Amino acid sequence: MITSKQLRDKWLSFYEGKGHVNIGAVSLIGDGTTGVMFNVAGMQPLMPYLLGKPHPAGKRLCNVQGCVRTVDIDSVGDSTHFTFFEMMGNWSLGDYFKKEKTAWTFELLTKEFGLDKDKICSTVFAGNESAPRDDETAELLVSLGIKRENIFYLDKSNNWWELEGTVGTPCGPDNEWFYPLTDEECGRKPCDINCPCGRYVEIGNDVYMQYKKTETGYVPLENKNVDTGFGLDRMLAFLNGLTDGYKTDLFSGAIAHLEKVSGKRYDDGGDARKAMRIIADHTRTAVMLIGDVNGILPSNTGAGYILRRLMRRAIRYCKALEIDSAELLNVAKIFIEDVYGEAYPLLPQKEEYILSEIARETERFEATLEKGMKEFEKTVAGIERKNEFMAKQDPAYVKETAIGGKQAFRLYDTYGFPLELTEELAAERGYTVDAAGFELAFKEHQEKSHAVAEGQFKGGLSDTSVATTRLHTATHLLNAALKQVLSPDVNQKGSNITPERLRFDFNFSRPMTEEEIRAVEDLVNEKIGEDIPVVFEEMPYDRAREEGIVGVFDNKYGDVVKTYSIGTFSREMCGGPHAERTGELGHFRIVKEQSSSSGVRRIKAVLDDTGAKN
Ligand code: ALA
Repeated sequence: MITSKQLRDKWLSFYEGKGHVNIGAVSLIGDGTTGVMFNVAGMQPLMPYLLGKPHPAGKRLCNVQGCVRTVDIDSVGDSTHFTFFEMMGNWSLGDYFKKEKTAWTFELLTKEFGLDKDKICSTVFAGNESAPRDDETAELLVSLGIKRENIFYLDKSNNWWELEGTVGTPCGPDNEWFYPLTDEECGRKPCDINCPCGRYVEIGNDVYMQYKKTETGYVPLENKNVDTGFGLDRMLAFLNGLTDGYKTDLFSGAIAHLEKVSGKRYDDGGDARKAMRIIADHTRTAVMLIGDVNGILPSNTGAGYILRRLMRRAIRYCKALEIDSAELLNVAKIFIEDVYGEAYPLLPQKEEYILSEIARETERFEATLEKGMKEFEKTVAGIERKNEFMAKQDPAYVKETAIGGKQAFRLYDTYGFPLELTEELAAERGYTVDAAGFELAFKEHQEKSHAVAEGQFKGGLSDTSVATTRLHTATHLLNAALKQVLSPDVNQKGSNITPERLRFDFNFSRPMTEEEIRAVEDLVNEKIGEDIPVVFEEMPYDRAREEGIVGVFDNKYGDVVKTYSIGTFSREMCGGPHAERTGELGHFRIVKEQSSSSGVRRIKAVLDDTGAKN
């Protein structure tokens, strides 16, 4: 039996032994530069260095990096899918290339992990108009002792690695490693690498990152890099001879606890096992996201919405397992105290905060879940009745199989059911949900509430509202100044403006020093002194993202977004209104810098000639 801790250590010591520096892990929350909400791969924070910027730790790096991938969220419940996992990685930034990399992966798999070289399979890139067939890697693999018949050439859909939906990012062909089950282990008839039966599970890959993805194609990078990623969770199961990823030491405590409180057995399979996997997986991800250095909380937009979806899905599965949803706290505790506390020391430090936020979301959803379920049942019963009635009238009647968008929106708005939860419930009953209708109802609702807000604003137009407008512009300057003075990773977590002052919450893990506060004030006042025009522009959302325009991550942005730019200093997606020029703002002063919640700081600031006091 190899434990998760041993595997982490083995990975790091192996690559440290080859001259790599362990650079540690970064936040799970995307920094906004790539448009990807979460960190989905170990290479993501290293992108500038893969594109050529020198890394302070050198050219050989390694780490174990947490990743969150929610595209497969609906598959969680089977034996191999997780929404959080750890990626064991190592990199060459224009240093070694294919010869060394193939040899080291081979050495790790055969010598350290004891795999049989005659059973290892490997896939390489078959070539296309962007990049040649990777015979070089194939020949190196053969020279190491891998059987030629176990090497397969596959096309771009299999053997090319890039961050989907991005441009300007590094990418390239990859060499994937497999250790297929034998016929006996698999219990199925012989098949090959293209068969999706599960016999051929990828255990990791070496990406030869030597291209940059552009709008029109791929251009070679100056540096030939290597980007290796092996999933720890999967590797751990595999090395322990397990085909169920929930049987490793990462999950055994959580599953044992769920068995105890539900009185059901995981190994009996079926719905109870599925529920246990979903509860365990989603709780683990929630712990990691709330306990992250840039921790987030459940909300109705962006990354917070994904977290809410995960938590509410876990809560619903507590019902399916017939346990109290407060058990999520005990499951979270197991992850924090027993499983990840040592590798992620911030988690035990933030334990109280994480647990209280999980409790808060649980209580919030519990308050409406039961009523919402009744509403859902009523909706389904209504459709069934209508179908029955209509079928009697007209034998050719095509039965309705979709839950209306308005109903789905009502479940969302009144009972806090994320759309995806309603879709899942619907699917269990053989129904779909009219998602386009939901979006429409959502938009209509938003327009109505905006109209109300604008009406109030205009109605109250006075000197007072001019003050709020200027404070709003000051908020943008402050946001940009904080990024410049403290760190580009600083992001807005909340904002509130009254006629007297602005309040701005942002992620940062310690109090600001006096000097930092002064530096931020000075920078904002410098920009006010420059009397820069505030420029409004509408543009496609994708262009805004590409141009690095700051947005509060929000999957509810439309296709076209409103942006406000203050020179090149500050560019944000925002609905306005704003001052016309920064010179109108007067003198900016920070009156308070305090903690808002764990990992989140709060600034209160005034514009002196608004007549506001502290
Ligand atoms: N970037 C590669 C992956 O995530 C290593 O699989």
